[in-house]
Amino acid sequence: MDHGRLKDRLAKAGQSHLLRFWDQLSPEEQAEFALELEGMNFTEINAFFKNAMETSGQTKQEKVDSRMEPLPREVLGSVTRDRDSIKEWEEEGLRCISENRVAVLLLAGGQGTRLGVSYPKGMYDVGLPSHKTLFQLQAERILRLEQLARRQHANPCCIPWYIMTSGRTMESTQEFFLKHKYFGLKQENVIFFQQGMLPAMDFSGKIILENKSTLAMAPDGNGGLYRALGKHKIVEDMERRGIAYVHVYCVDNILVKVADPAFIGFCLRKGADCGAKVVEKTNPTETVGVVCKVGGCYQVVEYSEITLATAEMRSADGRLMFNAANLANHFFSLPFLKDVINTYEPQLLHHVAQKKIPYVDTRGQLIKPDKPNGIKMEKFVFDIFQFAKTFVVYEVLREDEFAPLKNADSQDGKDNPTTARHALMSLHHRWVLNAGAHFIDENGTRLPAIPRLGPAGAHAPDGSQNLKDGTDLPIKCEISPLVSYGGEGLEKLVHGREFQPSLIIDERGIHEHVRNGL
Ligand code: UD1
Repeated sequence: MDHGRLKDRLAKAGQSHLLRFWDQLSPEEQAEFALELEGMNFTEINAFFKNAMETSGQTKQEKVDSRMEPLPREVLGSVTRDRDSIKEWEEEGLRCISENRVAVLLLAGGQGTRLGVSYPKGMYDVGLPSHKTLFQLQAERILRLEQLARRQHANPCCIPWYIMTSGRTMESTQEFFLKHKYFGLKQENVIFFQQGMLPAMDFSGKIILENKSTLAMAPDGNGGLYRALGKHKIVEDMERRGIAYVHVYCVDNILVKVADPAFIGFCLRKGADCGAKVVEKTNPTETVGVVCKVGGCYQVVEYSEITLATAEMRSADGRLMFNAANLANHFFSLPFLKDVINTYEPQLLHHVAQKKIPYVDTRGQLIKPDKPNGIKMEKFVFDIFQFAKTFVVYEVLREDEFAPLKNADSQDGKDNPTTARHALMSLHHRWVLNAGAHFIDENGTRLPAIPRLGPAGAHAPDGSQNLKDGTDLPIKCEISPLVSYGGEGLEKLVHGREFQPSLIIDERGIHEHVRNGL
């Protein structure tokens, strides 16, 4: 370690304050800190800061707003309007899966700050009767889909699962998968890789010290994906396996249809290199990005970057004008991903989030600020839509496919463990009814298909049921993804049967219990 050289480098970069406590550090701390600092590219970090600050802020927001246009009809496919084509799309997707050409890629590098847990979100148990975690549900959906594709096309197949973690989530995620024996998947088909981190900076561009010898570092956003794919040679691994299409999704949607064959088939039939799944946004303040055009290019305008006035704009039919809510479920062809990594990634700008970042003051005291004192810089996964040659959007139903886990139960009753659990169980309840079964109460009387909820069960503006946190639905129904991926295959199990209102169907059979006996 050459201390003098490090000092010079930091002085040139305007970051000398990082060595303020150098003399107070032990030799080990000094060595470790120097190693970290030496590995950092300050010229690049300073340039990121300059560009991010120039392109963020109120003026930019207004500029974006004034250039936003709704999606043109011709890029849209819809599970409701295009009902006649779904079967065909599904078959196309399944065929592609059976030919080993589809991979899934999970974005799991986030810190889950809003949920308030210290471990990765995918390890969260929302309190289903089975107590399966988000990771387990996703793994089992992959297994089931492989089975469906195999059966239909008599071809042994596998859907490799790429999992992007960050410095904050890598170790615990890998340990969790190991502990649970990869949930039945083959270890060699679950590929972990790590995204980059960036330092948090104060408003004048100085890197923030979290303590005397640690920088305040955070993952570089889910758009850090592209750099990480390049760095870890993930596309090369995909090519070796013959992958042609990738479904990229975020960890927290309990209803996520990993590698959804209909979505993949739709994108293929439209000849798309890039696609996004959306649901209708009905509440202007819902924390979702909207897929739209900005200045003629496809883009997602994030909830943190749209003005309320624009979010509230309505079309002549009374619907929100910008109503294509981004599910963070994307389709990419491999050639497109390669172009992004090799050509476009450096053009992506960082978005700026103002944050309250704990820091050490000049006397070495730890301060927890009560208002934002700096910024975190993040790239967003969808910022590459603008480079697509053929971009398409696939609209699905919220109640079938979107129930994200963002907040803890104690918060405002939205997107929390209770709403996620309810969404999954009411979807499975509907699957069972659609397969020709009924639920009965303890006297043998049939329960209504749409259960009556108490006063707390009123519908929220976005259509979600406003049940009190922690309460449960009158009918608890959970079907293992190992039995059914999207409601298929249930008829032969349940048609014409009557069930108690607590029902689990898993690979071991049908388990029903009176009342809350599960
Ligand atoms: C995200 C979308 C938003 C969409 C919403 C739907 C982005 C930037 N925003 O918002 O448009 O409407 O989901 O629920 O995609 N992640 C990383 N690395 C990071 C940061 C995040 O891998 O550095 C992952 C998270 O683990 C998560 C996903 O990206 O799986 C989304 O991150 P999150 O911060 O939860 O995004 P939202 O703000 O909810």
